[in-house]
Amino acid sequence: MASLAGGEELDDSELIRKVDASDMLGVLSSMPEQVRKAYALPRPRLGTSKPKLVAVLGMGGSAIGGDLLGACLLEKKGPQVIVNRDYRIPEFVGKGALVFAVSYSGNTEETLSGFGQAKKRGCRIVTISSGGKLQQLGDPATHIALPKGLQPRAAVAWMLVPMLGMLEDIGAAPARADVEEAAQILEGIMKELAPSVPASNNISKAVAAQLHGAFPMIFSGPLLAPVAKRWRTQLNENAKMLARDDVLPEMDHNDLVAWSEDPMAARCAIILLRDTAEHPRVARRMELTRRLGLDRARSVREVSSRGRGTLARLLSSMAVGDFASVYLAVLRGVDPTPVRVIEELKKELAG
Ligand code: F6R
Repeated sequence: MASLAGGEELDDSELIRKVDASDMLGVLSSMPEQVRKAYALPRPRLGTSKPKLVAVLGMGGSAIGGDLLGACLLEKKGPQVIVNRDYRIPEFVGKGALVFAVSYSGNTEETLSGFGQAKKRGCRIVTISSGGKLQQLGDPATHIALPKGLQPRAAVAWMLVPMLGMLEDIGAAPARADVEEAAQILEGIMKELAPSVPASNNISKAVAAQLHGAFPMIFSGPLLAPVAKRWRTQLNENAKMLARDDVLPEMDHNDLVAWSEDPMAARCAIILLRDTAEHPRVARRMELTRRLGLDRARSVREVSSRGRGTLARLLSSMAVGDFASVYLAVLRGVDPTPVRVIEELKKELAG
């Protein structure tokens, strides 16, 4: 493999241990195990009637699993998935819908509000949390209890994989082979991204060095859009950095114009998330978009998904960004785990 430039400071394991005081990297490294254990969690029996609509209610780190679920089902003949990040749920979420109310803490007010409405409308509901009000208000027979003590964003597989399993159980979309493939691919990736692997061979360390001191922008095709969003939110929460995500082909119809005009372009560091199965016209657009616009940025790097199944492609692309966000936190000297201002806001709202 060609040597990756930058990030040698991250080869100091003592520095990583010191800054990543609550060991976010350790938690991220357990992703393959999370995937397997989450698939093995006892799941409520939901009968055999296939819903036409699945609504995932959640916010932040608990919502992104819904986006990933929706992406997984794009390539299967499963039900349509919507992700609702609001106090209100749409009117079309009615009796026939299957609702996953997901909140790692179980106390997120938007999710609790949506859950209350879904209950009133007689929807089939599964609650997923590590405790909190959602567990108390939900039906114990249709509750999935998550292990406690994680940051919600670090528990994404715990929330995503049981939803895939439940859809498989009701015959809506097979999952077993995809889950196993994803776990295996992630095992390999974890070895490549580990702190012990020097920056010259570690793509996440190289990405961290690339994004350090720049304004990160993460772009992808439609399938990997939730992963681009995840990269952005991990940069926000772990590295405590402003960042942006966008999607092709849509951005070719607006964002592209700015790249040739705005001097800000020279301060932006771009990650292009490439999918092994992307539409050939999207692939062509990626090349042209680089040439006609993105090459004016400070730097552009492509990161490719791995695997055959959608889940493996999604989670492999996600893992590189998750690790990069923590390495970037280390370069910036900020502890990746705490998100104090989110907690402060929730306290103010509750008061
Ligand atoms: C924190 C995080 C946040 C939370 C969000 C909702 O790690 O990622 O985005 O996920 O504030 O809280 P929960 O997940 O407890 O419903």
